[in-house]
Amino acid sequence: MTSFLQGNTCIVGLQWGDEGKGKIVDFIAEQADVVVRYCGGANAGHTVRIGSEKYSTHLLPVGIFRPHIMNVIGNGVVLDPEALLKELDEFLGRGLAISPANLRISYKTHVVMPWHKAEDAFREKAAGADGIGTTQRGIGPCYADKMHRTTAIRVADLQHEQKLRERIDRICADRNKVFAALYDAPPLNAREIFDQYRDFGRRMLPFIDDTTHLLFQAVKAGKKIVFEGAHAVLLDVDHGTYPYVTSSNCSALGLYTGAGVPPQAVKNFIGIMKAYSTRVGGGPFPTEQANKIGEYIRERGNEYGTTTRRPRRCGWFDAFAVKYSVDLCGVTSIALTLLDVLSGLDQIHICTGYRLNGVRMESFRADMDMLTDAEPVYEVMPGWRGNLTECRRFEELPAEAQKYVKRLEQLCGVPVSMVSVGPERSATLLR
Ligand code: GDP
Ligand code: IMO
Ligand code: MG
Repeated sequence: MTSFLQGNTCIVGLQWGDEGKGKIVDFIAEQADVVVRYCGGANAGHTVRIGSEKYSTHLLPVGIFRPHIMNVIGNGVVLDPEALLKELDEFLGRGLAISPANLRISYKTHVVMPWHKAEDAFREKAAGADGIGTTQRGIGPCYADKMHRTTAIRVADLQHEQKLRERIDRICADRNKVFAALYDAPPLNAREIFDQYRDFGRRMLPFIDDTTHLLFQAVKAGKKIVFEGAHAVLLDVDHGTYPYVTSSNCSALGLYTGAGVPPQAVKNFIGIMKAYSTRVGGGPFPTEQANKIGEYIRERGNEYGTTTRRPRRCGWFDAFAVKYSVDLCGVTSIALTLLDVLSGLDQIHICTGYRLNGVRMESFRADMDMLTDAEPVYEVMPGWRGNLTECRRFEELPAEAQKYVKRLEQLCGVPVSMVSVGPERSATLLR
């Protein structure tokens, strides 16, 4: 295979998630030594297809499918031990070799506890139609506790059993008062939670490590590191379409704190974007096609959530929003995915900007109110027919599909160096 991993590389989604990051990380991991997850938790769902096998990862880094790779769960992740061990057991059962030799977890990583998942569900229910549409995996409440500090639990804390018991007792007493008053909820059982999390901690112990040091050493030794972004730029808590975002810094900018490496350690930023747009949950989506076009894309692209199975909202490619993501993250090249899905449409629309009250907006604003009122400005291109999934060279694609890719490249201002035409590893064209 051509060598394209010159230096350390971050993979980042440029839209609202589910761009095919799993597939691309697995593809480029062949040339990597280390793969690191740096943000989010079990709200992510990354799909990897290897031959007839299909895997969904939520917490395990995607390098887990290649035995030579060291996989790291960084401190920026919020880790649900129950979800992690379920994933681990599933993959072990399917014959993957996973041990401390290829998986390490930062001792600084925060732990998602049962009260985080309960609070996520209570808040969403109470908000009704104004809810975020979260995955209810306890992500927001866990990151909130990370900031609160006194009510947080880190992976390292699972190892100090007496202190853990006291901490869980104290937090449960506090949560029970709040949950009863606000949501009329039955009390949490501190004893049961302690027993369960003590056992999780014991099972996780061999994997727990000082991954900051491990990554320092890897950088110094010139190992090739891939930083596996979860979610995407437009879901970033600071730079995304707030408040309809997740609770981590899931743009590429979050990798430095979430993995614990200095900025100069990373050279390449590969932005992943699908040939159209999707989003799951609530929030503004200017190019959404809540019509036959959207349904066509959803069915051909199998656009149903990897984590929650919710139907994804589908729409046209939004070059105005993606250019914002490209500029924010300093994207150096792009992998365009799911191009095959658009086959069979007579015309394809690309959003090149927005009008607000009749006036063209100068720059994309991740502002909820503006985005709700923004009217997309479209450019229309001819569609193409045929099954693209068997193509193995860019030049084999229909001429209109090649023109579409080149136009997206022009609008994003960065080379599209990879084009994906199917979920399989081999359905990847390098340019
Ligand atoms: P991620 O969260 O960014 O890793 O993406 P998901 O795995 O949630 O969703 C992407 C979906 O598209 C998965 O079902 C992949 O198997 C599939 N996929 C990835 N690339 C392609 C492609 O080029 N063509 C098609 N048809 N499917 C793809
Ligand atoms: P991957 O890594 C798509 C969305 C949720 C919801 C919002 C907040 O697979 O691309 P949360 O549970 O995080 O508090 O939910 O963010 N969301 C995602 N949408 N792909 C993801 O991850 C997502 N992670 C979170 O649907 O709208
Ligand atoms: Mg996904």
